Order: sequence, then structure tokens, then C-alpha cells
Amino acid sequence: MKVRKAVIPAAGLGTRFLPATKAMPKEMLPIVDKPTIQFIVEEAKKAGIEDILIVNGKNKRSIENHFDSNPELEQDLKSTGKIELLNLTQEVTDLGVNLYYTRQPYPAGLGDAIYRARSFVGNEPFVVMLGDDLMRDKVPLTKQLMNDYDKTHASTIAVMKVPHEEVSKYGVIAPEDEIEPGLINVKSFVEKPAVEDAPSDYAIIGRYLLTPEIFDILEHTKPGRGGEVQLTDAIDTMNKTQRVFAHVFKGQRFDVGNKEGYLETSIQYGLRHPETRDALKKYIIELGKKLSK
Ligand code: UTP
Repeated sequence: MKVRKAVIPAAGLGTRFLPATKAMPKEMLPIVDKPTIQFIVEEAKKAGIEDILIVNGKNKRSIENHFDSNPELEQDLKSTGKIELLNLTQEVTDLGVNLYYTRQPYPAGLGDAIYRARSFVGNEPFVVMLGDDLMRDKVPLTKQLMNDYDKTHASTIAVMKVPHEEVSKYGVIAPEDEIEPGLINVKSFVEKPAVEDAPSDYAIIGRYLLTPEIFDILEHTKPGRGGEVQLTDAIDTMNKTQRVFAHVFKGQRFDVGNKEGYLETSIQYGLRHPETRDALKKYIIELGKKLSK
């Protein structure tokens, strides 16, 4: 069966960005001039995803409004001749994918957020995309997972090697064997293990391709680490009854889920943005000189 649907959870509290996230989901924080969730929707579209469900928390309005039209603003940009900005604004509404919204009433964990997608997904394989991670590669990571699925018909989770001392921030896999270069048969999945207990340095990054059986498991998954229903725990349970693979991502990953990663990503993207790259580069070189004195 073809993978056509994606779920983007955006109902977390985003505590690492408080107070910025007090009245706004962290998925709306911009990288230069685009909210992170727009990068995610664009990646889904490039991968050939047709339908996307966004799981909102209580600050839902800004995401829906961002992807909706804004006739007043558009009229204003038209009458003042700001055609390029008008096009940029309208592009967001005409991305060519269908967006749907639901709510997670309490931030009870990523697993609970994904469970809210059960009737949207139905009996099809689907992808989960987290706004915390921006990916850059020739073929979008989501598409790479979909290509794996075409061969294996199994759930496949994107992973990447991270420095050993950082494994406790992630879901981590215990690899069994590599069935082909970059595709690993997984023994088990552990959410945020202590550094000394981590079974490998392969961390789960924010893209998952899941078979619909995950919902039967999530329905019965008890809150785990941090009192939250963990998607990693449900995946580990699923791995006992059907194969789950890990796909090693070889492209660039930008972690925008914490302050330092967010700032670094903003600089990286700013250095590629046609409006900012030259001035920003100059500024960074000057700053580097000053800081190294
Ligand atoms: P995170 O743990 O990174 O998000 O969840 P958070 O809890 O918002 O962030 P901090 O730690 O407080 O700063 C990963 C993804 O899962 C979503 C988040 O929106 C994020 O995209 N999520 C998490 C939910 O949708 N619901 C939840 O209950 C928890």
C-alpha cells in the first residue's frame, strides 16, 4: 500500500523556549523567515505525501492561520505593489497538500499525540514528522523512509549517530544486524537511556514510518518516562510482533528543539538565504575576529 498520509504533532509545551512558547507553539518559531512547521510540510509535499494531520495543543490558532489565506494582508500587499511578498504569502496557502487538524487535550506525551491520528490514518502506513528536526538531503528523509517501505513493507524509524554523551536525550536503538547498507534490523528501542546503559549511539531522529498496528499498541501503552505515553515504548512493543527497521540518515540534521541548536540553525539558514547571506557572513567574520582576540 502506498504511503500517503503524515502526522505532525505540535501539541508539546515547548518548555525549553519559554517564555516565547507561552502563547505560541514552538513549531511556529521562525528560521530566518519561515516557521519550522512550514519546512516540515514542504518536506512532506516533496516526498509525495497527500494528506497531513497536524495535532494541535491549546495554542492552535497560529498554525491554522499560518496555512490559511489572509485576504486583508493579501489585498494590502497587492495595492502597495509588493508582489514578491504577496506570492510568498499565497504560496503557504497553495502548498498542494491537504491539511487537517485535531487537538490533543493534554500534553500527555508524543505517543498520546499520535494516537489522536487513529481515525485519520485508518488502516494505512503513515509517517510521523517532528518539527524539532529539520533535515537536508538530496532526497527528503521522509521519501527515503517511503522507499524503504516499498521494499520491506515494515515500519522504519530514522536514526543517526550522535556523540555518546548525548544519547540520554534521545530514543536509542539496540541494533541486531544490518540487512543492507544503512538499514538496520533492530533488537529493541529505549527512550532516553542513561549514558552508561545506552545500547548504541544510534539516536531516533524526528521521522518515523509506521504501520497502522501501532494504534492498537498505543491504546494500551502505559505512561513511561516523564509520566508521558512514549511513542518509543509502543514501537518497542510492536517490534516484538512485526519487524521494525532503523534507517541511518546520512544527510544534515538541524536540531531546532533546543535554544543552542535553534540559534545555530538560524545562522546556517541565514547564510543560505539570498537576502541575508552576504551581510550575515560579513558580520560573523567580524564577530569571530572580535571574539578570538
Ligand atoms: P518534545 O519533548 O521535543 O516537545 O516532543 P516539548 O515537550 O514541546 O518540548 P520541551 O521539552 O517542553 O521543550 C517532541 C514532539 O512531540 C510533540 C511536540 O510538539 C514535539 O513536536 N508533542 C510532545 C506533542 O504533540 N504532545 C505531547 O504531549 C508531547
